[in-house]
Amino acid sequence: MSRIAIVSAMHPELAAVLAWLPQTQKHTVAGREFVLGRWHGHDVVAVLSRIGKVAAATTATVLIERFDVRQVLFTGVAGGVAPLAQVGDVVVASAFMQHDMDASPLFPIYEVPLYGRSHFATDAVLTAELALAAKAALAQGVLDAADLTDMGMDNGQVNRTVQVHQGLIISGDRFVSTRLESQRLQQALPAALAVEMEGAAVAQVCHDYGVPFAAMRTISDRADDDAHADFLKFVDQVASRYSAAILDHFFTQRSR
Ligand code: ADE
Repeated sequence: MSRIAIVSAMHPELAAVLAWLPQTQKHTVAGREFVLGRWHGHDVVAVLSRIGKVAAATTATVLIERFDVRQVLFTGVAGGVAPLAQVGDVVVASAFMQHDMDASPLFPIYEVPLYGRSHFATDAVLTAELALAAKAALAQGVLDAADLTDMGMDNGQVNRTVQVHQGLIISGDRFVSTRLESQRLQQALPAALAVEMEGAAVAQVCHDYGVPFAAMRTISDRADDDAHADFLKFVDQVASRYSAAILDHFFTQRSR
């Protein structure tokens, strides 16, 4: 039976997903609790990776080596880097890269040494399924525009409709929390839509094992001077709702 992994970095991102898995078995490996269950008839294993690329790589490796997962989904939040990636929007990754990888002058900046590449594409089919699920969930109103206004996070765009974008997500072992750094990233990597701290590591491990990978990130902050406060509010109040609603659509679609 093919098992699908659901990974998030932090508990508030995964809490509502775990609530969908009533009858579960739990196994602890490498200090992480792997929760096995079924969602609309699909075998899943949900786990918290913890934060950062190394923690994410360990988690992905254990999932593949010990839990025989055939597909990996990552769900969580990210900082918006491109102007279009506003708080409350969802970014479905088409590819990942590490914005803090730099072995120059031995290798070109951003290239992962000895892989001959900087970008790791997500699986096209799985990504299309996830994007479809994200659009369906948002169309049903996972998040009210008023929710963002209530949290003071509507960026002056009251009643803006939240959107799904697809494109490059960049990862690094740094919480981006100044406008200056965010602008630098945007200038250096103009294709980047959003920044987070795990995706590129999971993408690389999945590439190594030939396991299909897809990821969605809800924009929790604009990776600027307000990022810290916005991130905490968003993660606490709404992040998990997105993950659960989108994955519910994802597994319902698959059941048909
Ligand atoms: N995850 C969510 N917001 C982030 C940010 N601003 N920087 C890095 N990772 C994030």
